[in-house]
Amino acid sequence: MSDQLAPSALQGAPFRIPAPNETALFTPDPKLLEAQHVVAFSNRHLASRPFSLLRSQVVKRMAAGGHRIIGVTSPAPGAGKSFLTANLAATLSRLPGKQVLVFDLDIRRASLAQNFGLVGEAGLERFLAGETDDLRKIGRHVEGTNLTLYPCYSNDLDSMPLLAGDRFDRFVKALRTLDEDTIILFDMPPVFANDDAMVIAGHVDAYLMVIEQGRTNQKQVTDSIRLLDPAECLGSVLNRYDGGVTDPYGYSYGGYGKYTDYFSKED
Ligand SMILES: Nc1ncnc2c1ncn2[C@@H]1O[C@H](COP(=O)(O)OP(=O)(O)O)[C@@H](O)[C@H]1O
Ligand SMILES: [Mg+2]
Repeated sequence: MSDQLAPSALQGAPFRIPAPNETALFTPDPKLLEAQHVVAFSNRHLASRPFSLLRSQVVKRMAAGGHRIIGVTSPAPGAGKSFLTANLAATLSRLPGKQVLVFDLDIRRASLAQNFGLVGEAGLERFLAGETDDLRKIGRHVEGTNLTLYPCYSNDLDSMPLLAGDRFDRFVKALRTLDEDTIILFDMPPVFANDDAMVIAGHVDAYLMVIEQGRTNQKQVTDSIRLLDPAECLGSVLNRYDGGVTDPYGYSYGGYGKYTDYFSKED
């Protein structure tokens, strides 16, 4: 049976998650990564340190809980979910023997492609919409790393039917058949935007809650955790984001200086 069959011919069949070397190789531009604040591929980068510390905590808790799939969310948009996902993925991908897969599930505000400088037209949104079953065409393996990215590209799809249906269920089931050394990250939508985060939370093993210093308040955090219940909060990450958005030359490293990793869990 050809794996190029039309999606309709494969209805109900299990999805196949490609091995990293089955997806196209992609070499990110270091300057672009820097401009996008994706710093954690190298432990020589000063700004990568908080991510290495976070990595240890995440790996420890994932092992303790037998977790495979971790979501990253926040109460409101712009808190730094994608920033954290990209850097956590980069730092995790330096662990020997691990494969890291990142899926952009913030379908309406997708930014993984932008964060890594990926250009394309058909991304994960096309797979989720049922237009293709072939994830090999969507995944991009970052050269020289253990990281594979599944970006979403700009679209005006209604995200809810893409996440709430049987197809998404089957997709997550397929992810769970992967080797146990695979770490899967979902870049999630914010909790207060719509129901998407709640639906996705029903499929992850645990999630990280990004808290934006000075913007996210305690009630937003407790309300978000309540809304995502019974999904497990693996911990929260305080992102002291200083909002250099108006700087036309990008962000200064001061921005990272204000990034504090803060990992707390109500035990
Ligand atoms: N600690 C930080 N230092 C510098 N820039 C940051 C930091 N956190 C977030 N940003 C930047 O802020 C913008 C919004 O963050 P992003 O991760 O896209 O938010 P979200 O995914 O939660 O909507 C992005 O341009 C990102 O690079
Ligand atoms: Mg985002």
